[in-house]
Amino acid sequence: MSETIHTHEHTSSGKTPYSQWLQTDVLHTLQRPVSDHPGEHAWIVHAQVSELYWMLIIKEIQTAQACLRANDLLQAQRTLLRVVAHHAPLDAIWRSLAWMTPNDLLAMLSRVGPTYGKDTALQGWTYRHMVYLLGIKQAEHLQHFEPQPQRWAQLDKALGEPSLYDDVLAYLARIGMEVPPAVLERDLRAPYTPSGAVEQVWRGIYAGPDTHPELQRLGETLADIAEGFMQWKHRHLMATRRTFGARPAYFGTEGVAWLRPTMEEIPFPELWSARTFIGDPQSSPVAAVCPHLARQAAEGAATRVA
Ligand code: HEM
Repeated sequence: MSETIHTHEHTSSGKTPYSQWLQTDVLHTLQRPVSDHPGEHAWIVHAQVSELYWMLIIKEIQTAQACLRANDLLQAQRTLLRVVAHHAPLDAIWRSLAWMTPNDLLAMLSRVGPTYGKDTALQGWTYRHMVYLLGIKQAEHLQHFEPQPQRWAQLDKALGEPSLYDDVLAYLARIGMEVPPAVLERDLRAPYTPSGAVEQVWRGIYAGPDTHPELQRLGETLADIAEGFMQWKHRHLMATRRTFGARPAYFGTEGVAWLRPTMEEIPFPELWSARTFIGDPQSSPVAAVCPHLARQAAEGAATRVA
């Protein structure tokens, strides 16, 4: 009975529980095309859905950081697995813009400038916050938020706080891994400088298939997150090539040339570089069980040393 009254109250105010919970009436007022191009709605939906997922990833990473700080690896791992999952729709959504040619894009952009002024996605604070949390700290991006003081302050704060990777390294140090104090006490606002000692920490974690299984699981989840992030960047770069060619973009230089070097900004650097050594004979039990693999590995190591 009370259920019925509850529902009636909501419908009589012109809303249903569904519309209130999911804010659908507000949500569907937020797409406001400025051109008469029939594809602009798809563009706006694509960007807005991406924005929502980036914010979701921010919140998940912050939760995972809190779990790591509480030494709760299990909950951190569960949360980070959700971040891996959220990258799948971010990747898939590029299909909804696959129809776009330069004619389509320019028809839309030619109306955005006169309506709102010269724009660049670098003014997107959600993406930048996520990137800072992933450990790619570039203070120069703050300049794009000077017209938006609240967002500038938010990003300035995020720049000076630990990234997810900083929290992972601090956790590894707390459980006894030899992460150098200089890495833990570094200037958090500066770009991260990869450390040979941290590379050795990852190498030790992966010394054999069964060494530190829970930390290897964490490492693989971080690798999945980095791959999901880079996959989005690859799709974005290809969409730019496809719809914009080698045109100059926001900075007056070729947009693709600006984007290409960012493809080398891969999160969690030593987790990747350590893989050059993981599995080498001195750290791999494969040598004990399989003599011909041991010989090959030893020859390979000898060649590298030479
Ligand atoms: C398909 C047409 C697109 C083109 C031609 C394009 C072009 C560009 C260019 C040239 C840049 C470099 C900065 C600049 O010069 O503005 C850039 C950056 C960026 N764009 Fe796009 N973009 C497109 C679609 C999108 C969409 C749909 C989104 C969002 C959902 C997006 C999000 C971003 C982000 C987040 C960056 C910063 C990347 C970074 O810092 O590495 N772009 N884009």
